[in-house]
Amino acid sequence: MLFALTVIKTFGQLPKIIEKNGRHALLVDGKPFFILGGQAHNSSGWPGMLPNVWANIEAMHANTLEMPIYWEQVEPEPGKFDFSLIDTLLVQSRKNKVHLILLWFATWKNGSNHYIPEWMKREADKYPNITGKDGKPVDSPSPNFPATMDADIKAFTAVMNYLKNADTQHSVIMVQVENESGAWGSVRDYSPTAQKLFEGSVPAELLTPDVLAALNVPAGTTGSWQQVFGDRADEYFQAWSVALFVSKVAAAGKAVYPLPMYANAALRDPLTNPMANTYESGGPTDNVIPIWKVAAPSIDLVAPDIYIDGSEKILKVLGLYFRPDNALFVPEAGLSSDKAKYLYEVIAHGGIGFSPFGIDDNGDVKKDPELARRIAPLAQEYAMITPMMGELAQWSFGGKIRAVTEREDFGNQTIDLGAWEAIVMFGGDGRANAEPVNTKPIGKMMIAQLEENKFILIGTGCHITFRPTGKNTGRAWEYGKVEEGKYENGVFKRLRIQNGDETDWGGPGFGDTPTVLMTTLIVR
Ligand code: DGJ
Repeated sequence: MLFALTVIKTFGQLPKIIEKNGRHALLVDGKPFFILGGQAHNSSGWPGMLPNVWANIEAMHANTLEMPIYWEQVEPEPGKFDFSLIDTLLVQSRKNKVHLILLWFATWKNGSNHYIPEWMKREADKYPNITGKDGKPVDSPSPNFPATMDADIKAFTAVMNYLKNADTQHSVIMVQVENESGAWGSVRDYSPTAQKLFEGSVPAELLTPDVLAALNVPAGTTGSWQQVFGDRADEYFQAWSVALFVSKVAAAGKAVYPLPMYANAALRDPLTNPMANTYESGGPTDNVIPIWKVAAPSIDLVAPDIYIDGSEKILKVLGLYFRPDNALFVPEAGLSSDKAKYLYEVIAHGGIGFSPFGIDDNGDVKKDPELARRIAPLAQEYAMITPMMGELAQWSFGGKIRAVTEREDFGNQTIDLGAWEAIVMFGGDGRANAEPVNTKPIGKMMIAQLEENKFILIGTGCHITFRPTGKNTGRAWEYGKVEEGKYENGVFKRLRIQNGDETDWGGPGFGDTPTVLMTTLIVR
C-alpha cells in the first residue's frame, strides 16, 4: 500500500526547474533530467509528417521532441479550438517513450506574426503590426496593443487548460512561449500609440540600482526612456514591451497549468555590442536579459538559439545565458558536427538540455544518408549519455563536471581538478597508429570528478594525461585503474581495464566514438 502511494505521488509530480548555488536542474518525475532533444522543422506538426519525425528522434536516441503547435491550427475560428494535434502528439510521444516540449507559435514566430489565425490577419487595425520610423508598416506584430495580447492569452490559456487534463502523466515537460519574439526591420513600434508609451516614464522596476548597473546606467537616473537609456532607448522600450507581453501570456497559462516556460532568442553578435538594427530587436538577446528578468517573471528562463559559428562566440554566448537567475538551455542549434561538441559545454555549465533544429530534414533518416551523416555526431553522444543521463544531470547540478571543446587553433587545453591538472590533447588517441591531429576542431572531453582522485572521463577525438598539482606538486604518479565501460541502472559496468598501449602512449585515447572511462589516479 505504501509502495503504491509512493508511485502515485512520484507519477504526479509536475516538471519544475530548481536552483542551488547558482546552478539549475530540470526535475522530471522528481529527478534531475537532461534534455537530449531534437526540434522538428517548422511545418512538421501535422499527423502525416509525424512518422518521419519519430523515426529520426529514435535514430538520434533523443529523449525529448520539441514540436511547434500553431495558433492558426489551434483556433481556426475565434473561440473555436482544435486540440487534435496535441492529442496525437501525446499518444505518440508515450508510445515512443519520449518527452515533449511544445513550442507556442503564436503572436511571434521569428519576429513576424505569420502563425496568427487568418481571421486575425484580416483585422489589421485590431491586431496591428509595427509602424517603422519612416511610417511604413513592418512585418512584425506590435507588442503595444492589448487586443493582440488578450487574444493570445485566451488561446494559450485554452491550450494549457487542455494539456492539464490531457497530460496527467506529464509527457510535456516544458513549453516555449512564442518563438524568437522581437522585430526585424524596426527597432520598435513608432505608431502614435507606441510613441505615447515611449514618451512616458521608465517603469520603476527598471530603475533599481541593480538593474541600472546591469544596463550600464548610473544609479539614480530617472525620466523618459530617452533620458534614461539614450541611444539604447528604442531597443530597451521594445524589449520591455515584448517581455511584458510574453510574460503575461505565460502567466495566464501557468495560472491553469504551471509547467516550466521559456523564451528563445535570435542571438546578436556576443562580442561587439552591436546596435539593435543589426539583429532582432526586443527578444531576449544577451544585452537585455536584465530587462527580461524584471519584465517577465513568468518566464523561467531565456534561451539562446545557436546558429553562430566559432568557439569564441559560442562559448561567450553559453557564459552569458548561464546565470544564477537563468538555467542554461540550448533549444536550437545547427545540426552539424561542429555544434555537437557544445553539448559537453552545456552539461559542464550546469545546463538543462541541448536540442538541434530540423532533425526531420528531407524525410526518413533510414533512407537519407546525408541526414544520417548530419545526425550521427549527436546520435552517438545521446546513445552514450542515455544510460547515465540521471548521473550526468545530478553531477552537472552539483557542479562536478568540467569540459573542454577543441578550438579552431587545435591547441591543447587544461582542466584544473584541484590536486590534478588534466591536459587534453586533441587528435590522435594516444596509440601508435592514430592520426596525429583532427582535420576539424571537433574533439571534446568532459570530466566528472567523483572524488579527489577518481574521475569519469568522456570524450572523442582526443587523448588525456594528468599532472599532480597543489599539494601533490612534484610527486610521481600513475593510474590506479583506467576502466572502460558504461553505466547501467546507476552502476558502472566494466568492459575492460585499459592499460599498456592503451594508456602508455600519451594517456588514454578517445577516438571517433565517445568512450566512458572510470579512472583513478595515485601519487607515489
Ligand atoms: C530559428 C527559428 O527559431 C526556427 O523556428 C527556424 O526558423 C530556424 N531559425 C531556421 O530554420
